[in-house]
Amino acid sequence: MRKPIIAGNWKMNGSRSSIKELLEGIKAGMGDVKSAEVVVCAPAIYMADVSEQLSGSNVAWGGQNLSTEAKGAFTGETSADMLLDFKSEYVIVGHSERRTLYGETDELVAEKFEVARKAGLTPILCIGESLEERESGVTIDVCARQINAVIEKSGVKALAEGVIAYEPIWAIGTGVTATPEQAQETHAAIRKMIAEKDASVAEQVRIQYGGSMNAGNAKELLAMEDIDGGLIGGASLKAEDFLAICTAPA
Ligand code: PGA
Repeated sequence: MRKPIIAGNWKMNGSRSSIKELLEGIKAGMGDVKSAEVVVCAPAIYMADVSEQLSGSNVAWGGQNLSTEAKGAFTGETSADMLLDFKSEYVIVGHSERRTLYGETDELVAEKFEVARKAGLTPILCIGESLEERESGVTIDVCARQINAVIEKSGVKALAEGVIAYEPIWAIGTGVTATPEQAQETHAAIRKMIAEKDASVAEQVRIQYGGSMNAGNAKELLAMEDIDGGLIGGASLKAEDFLAICTAPA
């Protein structure tokens, strides 16, 4: 049985005071969260605040990106050890914004997955197709290519040590969500593609859906057989909305 995992991806949003209020709100509502694991992925600069406010709670935290390097002359980067220093447990790798705006390739993302995993962080590997790719019928090929880069680098068993977030790019921040059927179809195809290499990894690995998931549509999406949680952007910035998603899994 895969435990649903709901992760907030705050992106480059928030301030010390708004984050304090958000986390107080989330913590206050966690008693109603019965079956999901809850994570927030914060901007690196706020990791100290987040770790202080969440330590001892049942909300885990993580970064939104990491360097493949351990340390040294890499201005502006954050290492796995720095995330671990603040007790982060998770890190997002290969978010579509990193891939499209910062030129991260499948190979670089696979390397980040490997560095995170080896350091003891749980990587949340984002994959997903653009609208053009969906319309030309290559959705599963794109997802398979992105996952295969990780399998080539780390081996198929490594996938079970991370989480996959299927995020169709056309649904991110647009208010257009994949229908539960559309998302389920792709999630099932991703799981099948992994099962062809290793059935037990396919059975274990959690595949989140991301892309305009919100308080209104979460229940239906999370009810689908192969959707094991959500990666939430906009709706993770308000405690009430985020908690409504965290309490949605049956
Ligand atoms: P969204 O973002 O929920 O605002 O669409 C999701 C994501 O990019 O992880």
